[in-house]
Amino acid sequence: MSHQHFLTLLDLNPETLRGLVTRATELKKLHKAGTPHEPLKRKILAMVFEKSSTRTRMSFEAGMAQLGGHAIFLSPRDTQLGRGETVEDSARVLSRMADVIMIRTFEHEKIERFSAHSEVPVINALTDRYHPCQLLADMQTYSEHRGDIRGKTVAWIGDGNNMCHSYINAARQYDFTLNIACPEGYDPDADILQAAGTSASIIRNPLDAASNADLIVTDVWASMGQEEEQTKRESAFAGYQVDHGVMQAAAGDALFMHCLPAHRGEEVAAEVIDGPQSVVWDEAENRLHAQKALLEYLLR
Ligand code: CP
Ligand code: NVA
Repeated sequence: MSHQHFLTLLDLNPETLRGLVTRATELKKLHKAGTPHEPLKRKILAMVFEKSSTRTRMSFEAGMAQLGGHAIFLSPRDTQLGRGETVEDSARVLSRMADVIMIRTFEHEKIERFSAHSEVPVINALTDRYHPCQLLADMQTYSEHRGDIRGKTVAWIGDGNNMCHSYINAARQYDFTLNIACPEGYDPDADILQAAGTSASIIRNPLDAASNADLIVTDVWASMGQEEEQTKRESAFAGYQVDHGVMQAAAGDALFMHCLPAHRGEEVAAEVIDGPQSVVWDEAENRLHAQKALLEYLLR
């Protein structure tokens, strides 16, 4: 099928990805000015959530409404997906009724199978492997506060998880350098890292990774689905908290981002996430604007 899906940041070319960031800021201005912009009248977004969400659900649902369309929330608890109807059959059925489908699930392979059988664009709203929508918002946020991220240095401090993987892809696509500080045993996927060439590398020590960085990013130590590893991970990640010391190592005007939800006192100190360099609330808001740009693009 020839539909344009958005399963990873590698599905769109760098020019398109940059265009989405610019468009997101334009849509944000239109929205704040109270100017109606409803190009998606009568369009339907199906939202399949197999994991919890606050920001993703709210931003997609609000975004579709603002664009003149409608969003339908589906959870495995009350759909046949939760009773074993296959991913392939679900994709065939949902895509006969919706114009675009958003999925948050566990195995990335599941969304690949779904998209292969969908007659409409499919958006990855987080899998165990990637979280590309968050990166659109992060890139928009950086650009609104500091301008072009091209050539800048970003430090990822923490787990080599889905967000880290999307940051690795972002380093390739948006042309910045990514320093990754993660404890041994929690590295990002070797193939994803290798494919990024010199754009991303592991620099074990958080202070070294953060040295002169323009942006410091972290995420929870135990992602959704890893709750039972919480205690083990708390010990493994000791020394990997983004605290004042890490921010001091970074460039003087460095920003701090976190996709949220955050655990103050674990991956980030309260003084950092609630401090002057933190842009996490803009980052969360930008999920709305960035995904509106994405929806507009996929349904153009
Ligand atoms: N950052 C993010 O995706 O948040 P939710 O899990 O609340 O959607
Ligand atoms: N890495 C986190 C991101 C949450 C938005 C998780 O997958 O739970």
